[in-house]
Amino acid sequence: MCGIVGYIGSKNCVPILVEGLKRLEYRGYDSAGLGILSNGKSTIVKKKGKVSELEKIIDGKNLIASIGIGHTRWATHGLPNEINAHPHPNSDESILVIHNGIIENYRNLKTLLQKQGYEFKSETDTEVLAHLIDSFYKMGNTLFKSVRLALAEVEGTYGIAVLSKNEPDKIIIAKHGSPLVLGLGDKENFIASDINALIGHTTRVVYLEDGEVAEVYNDRFYTKTIQDEEIKKEVFEITMKLDAIDKNGFDTFMLKEIMEQPESVLNSMRGRLLFDEGTAKLGGLEEVIEKLSKAKRFIITACGTSWHSALVGEYMFEQFLRVPTEVEYASEFRYRNPIINSDDAIFFISQSGETADTLAAMKEAKRKGVLCLGICNAVGSTIARESDAGVYIHAGPEIGVASTKAFTSQLVVLALITLLIARKKDLSLIDGQNIVKEFLTIPEKVKKILLLNDQIEKIADEFKHVDNFLYLGRGYNFPVALEGALKLKEISYIHAEGYPAAEMKHGPIALVDENMPVIFIAPKDSTYDKIMSNIEEIKARKGKIIAIASESDDRIDKIVDYTIKVPDTIRMLMPILTVIPLQLLAYHIAIKKGLNVDQPRNLAKSVTVE
Ligand code: G6P
Repeated sequence: MCGIVGYIGSKNCVPILVEGLKRLEYRGYDSAGLGILSNGKSTIVKKKGKVSELEKIIDGKNLIASIGIGHTRWATHGLPNEINAHPHPNSDESILVIHNGIIENYRNLKTLLQKQGYEFKSETDTEVLAHLIDSFYKMGNTLFKSVRLALAEVEGTYGIAVLSKNEPDKIIIAKHGSPLVLGLGDKENFIASDINALIGHTTRVVYLEDGEVAEVYNDRFYTKTIQDEEIKKEVFEITMKLDAIDKNGFDTFMLKEIMEQPESVLNSMRGRLLFDEGTAKLGGLEEVIEKLSKAKRFIITACGTSWHSALVGEYMFEQFLRVPTEVEYASEFRYRNPIINSDDAIFFISQSGETADTLAAMKEAKRKGVLCLGICNAVGSTIARESDAGVYIHAGPEIGVASTKAFTSQLVVLALITLLIARKKDLSLIDGQNIVKEFLTIPEKVKKILLLNDQIEKIADEFKHVDNFLYLGRGYNFPVALEGALKLKEISYIHAEGYPAAEMKHGPIALVDENMPVIFIAPKDSTYDKIMSNIEEIKARKGKIIAIASESDDRIDKIVDYTIKVPDTIRMLMPILTVIPLQLLAYHIAIKKGLNVDQPRNLAKSVTVE
C-alpha cells in the first residue's frame, strides 16, 4: 500500500525515482508524485493516475536534481487526485513529506495545528506531518530532530521520507508499521518500500525497524529511535536479479507469474525433500521442530489468497498430523482477544510479509508468548524477520496484484511442513517416501496443465459477458473454489462466490438458472461421488457447468458442459493443480473484457493499512 522511493547521490535522481516508482506501482496506483531539491529550491510534481501519467508531465520539465523522493499512492484519506497525491509540503514548501500508512490521530493534530495558524490544502492525514515537522523546525530543531519530535506525537502507522531545502544534503526516513529499506551504494544511497526498487542499484540493504528514524546522507547514515537512542544497524546482502521483476516478454506480470509456476513450485521444494528418510528438510524450522511437533493445536492466520492457502493447510494438518487446526482471518484474530495456549503454534502466511493485519496478529500472538512461525515470500520482510522461525516459499517476486504463483508455493510449503511433522509423528517411512515421490511429479504436472491455456481461453470467451459465477468444491478443493472466485472478482470485476459444494443447497442454488455458470472442482478423490450428485443438482436447474476434473475421468464429460482435465495426484497436493485452470480462466476473462489484470481497480498488492 503506497510505494516510497528516495535517492541521494551525484546522479540525476529523477529517472531513478520514476523507475523505482514503476517497480513499486503494484503497491498503489491511483496517483504519483516526486519531490526534489536543486539549487536551493524544492520542486513538486504530482499527477492523478499511474506512474506513466506522472512520467509524461516530467518529460517536458527537464528536471535535474541529485536528491529526491517519490511516491505512488493507494488512497486512504481523500480522493485520488492531484492535491491529495504526495509529496505534501509545509506552507512555504521548504519541507516535503511522503508517507505510507495511516496517522490515526490526524484530526486532533490538525485541529491543534490549525489553532497555531497552519492552513491545510489536502484531505490527507499526511499533510499533518508536514506542518507538524515544520512546527518543530521553526523552534530551531534540526530536520532529524524535528521529525523525531513530530513522530513522538503521532499515533498510527507510517513509513515516511522527508526532505528540507534548508538541509539539502539529507533525507530523513522513519518507520512504524509500514516497511522501509535503505539501499547503500557508493557515495549514493537509496530508499524504498521494498527491495524491488533497489535491484540493479545495490545489493547492500538496511531494514528499518518500527520506531526507528534514519538520517541518510549520500555517503553515510545515522539511526536513532524516536526516543533519541542511537542504534547500530546490520547490513544485509540481497541476491535478487533484475530479470526477476521483469515481464520477460509476457504482456502482463500475471500471465508471466502463472506460467512460471512449474519453476516456482520446484523452487519451493528444491533441496527440501529427503527421499531416503521420506521427509522434508526445512532449515528455518530446525530450532523449533521439537516444540512444533508437540503442539496441541495449530492456528493459521492470514488475509486474502494467503488465507485460502491457510484453509488448505488446515486440511493437511488435520489429515496427517491429527492436530486440531483453526484458520483465522488475521483482521479478526487480532481484535478478539483470541484464546491462545502455551502449547499452540501459530502460522502467519503472507506473500509480502508486510500485510498490516497479519503483522499485527503476529505481534499480538508474540505478546502472549506463543510460538509464531512465518510463511513468507518476500525475503527480509517484517513478518519473516519478526517471527520466531519460519519458511520462505521462494516463489520469487510476485508483482501482479492478484496472487497466483505465491499461492501454489504456499501450498507446497504447507505440504512440506505437514510431511516434516508427520514423519516426526506416526507417518511411516514408506508413506513418507510415497509423498516425496508425488511431490517430485508436481512441476511436470503443472507444466501439463498450462498447456491447456488455449482451451481455457476459449471457455473464457463463452463466459466473458456473464455477471455472476459460482465456484464449488469439497474437502481440499473447497478453498480452491474460494480462491478461484476471488481471482475472478479481483481482476474481472465479475461477482463470484465460492462455496462448499454441498452447502450450495442452503442458499446459492436459488441463484442457479441457465444464465449462471457454475464451476465444479471435481477431481477423483474421496468426495467425487458426492460432488457428482451436486453436479446433477445444478444440471437439473439448467446451470452451465465447467468442471475441473481428473484426466482419468471420462464419466464427467457426458454430464457437464465443459471439462478441464488435470493430472491426478494425492489429495494433499491436488489444490496446487486444480487452482491453475481457475487462474487462467480469470485471467482470460479479464483480458477479454479489456481490463488491467496487473493493477485491478481499488486493490493493492501489499495492504499495509488495516
Ligand atoms: C492483498 C493482495 C492479495 C493478497 C492479500 C494478502 O489483498 O491483493 O493478493 O492475497 O493482500 O497479502 P499477503 O502479502 O499477506 O499474502
